[in-house]
Amino acid sequence: MAVTFTVNGTRRTVDVPADMPLLWVLRETLDLKGPKFGCGIGQCGACTVHVNGNAVRSCVLPAAAVDGRTITTIEGLSPDGSHPLQQAWQELDVPQCGYCQAGQIMQAAALLQRTPKPTDADIDAAMNGNLCRCATYHRIREGIHRAAAITANNE
Ligand code: FES
Ligand code: FES
Repeated sequence: MAVTFTVNGTRRTVDVPADMPLLWVLRETLDLKGPKFGCGIGQCGACTVHVNGNAVRSCVLPAAAVDGRTITTIEGLSPDGSHPLQQAWQELDVPQCGYCQAGQIMQAAALLQRTPKPTDADIDAAMNGNLCRCATYHRIREGIHRAAAITANNE
């Protein structure tokens, strides 16, 4: 089926099976390799992108469900990698292997949009579905606090 959506600011129409997971549409059809395949069953968060501003697991979202929607992947989070989370991630050297980190950042970005100054409890609640095999959880939490501070200082 033809599915039309806006991805990272550009309107795209793709001809894909209606039930093809959005993750494959992004990675294989549109060559956006930021979102990663981890589990394929909505349990790890590596594939997290934004659909209409909400963090979603793209591995379990069928293409048909995003017709007319607005999608942001890590590639479109900022024009030049300068989103406060990206700045904080660099400052604090958050990633280890990096595999989960695009999903972590997209999940965190959705959190900060709704809760600009999250507590540890807010962070844990928002992030607990995003797994990291390298156990960078402590730095992820610090990174989110740092990004919140960067944003507050810029205002
Ligand atoms: S790959 Fe989508 S949640 Fe794991
Ligand atoms: S940094 Fe390796 S899985 Fe998270």
